[in-house]
Amino acid sequence: MQTTASEKKKSDRGNFIAFEGIDGSGKSTQIELLNVRLKQNGIHCYTTKEPTDSPIGSLIHQILTGRIRTDNRVIAGLFVADRLDHLLNEVDGIMAKIEGGTSVITDRYYFSSYAYHSVDMPMEWVIKANEQSSAILKPTITVFIDVTPETAIERIAKNRFHKELFEKKSRLTLVRENYMKAFRLLEKEEKVIIIDGSRSQEEIADSVWEAVKGYFGL
Ligand code: ADP
Ligand code: TYD
Repeated sequence: MQTTASEKKKSDRGNFIAFEGIDGSGKSTQIELLNVRLKQNGIHCYTTKEPTDSPIGSLIHQILTGRIRTDNRVIAGLFVADRLDHLLNEVDGIMAKIEGGTSVITDRYYFSSYAYHSVDMPMEWVIKANEQSSAILKPTITVFIDVTPETAIERIAKNRFHKELFEKKSRLTLVRENYMKAFRLLEKEEKVIIIDGSRSQEEIADSVWEAVKGYFGL
């Protein structure tokens, strides 16, 4: 059977895997483990995160650590801009990599905005504000590492010296609820897998592997 040019172009694209979860859920640990496993299978991915290291991302980091103060609506807008730059910038933008056939794994994407900013404003507004990004690139799959706020805070407290703006238990409870609400709201257009993150790193890594390996033809 003949494939059309647009079909071919799509099938040559890399996968885009987005990891989500409340702070301290174990996302970066699992991204590292997945990346190693993919490498062992001959697949090299580009790993990245939001907020990014761009000038917009640096501004966000300074706000999150309390060095700069601003309104929550301003932060939500900065994340929209950081995400578009993450996708589109000419030096290391995600879109160019995906279209060039490289798979990308990101620590947080627009579901983070839906979950975190809906604590202070309507989720519909946050989804609308991110419409450009979701039109440009939806994740092949979003992997949500689910832990209770208690577990997350315990893990954070063991390993970090300072707590950022969002790492308070009551807030994390709302953020986790918002994630679930967003997954329900967008279940028709987004592929999401929820993984029990309360287990050992190895058990979680096995579940992640089972969820994503098929996308890499493994
Ligand atoms: P995130 O990127 O979601 O903030 P991390 O991967 O940095 O989370 O994990 C937060 C902390 O919890 C780290 O110190 C990490 O070593 C630890 N951790 C990660 N996964 C587990 C796990 N399954 N069990 C116990 N501790 C974990
Ligand atoms: P960071 O320490 O970089 O990440 P992590 O906790 O995952 O190790 O902090 C990023 C913080 O920014 C985290 O609390 C979630 C928040 N955030 C938003 O509020 N909106 C967003 O759109 C994104 C991507 C993150």
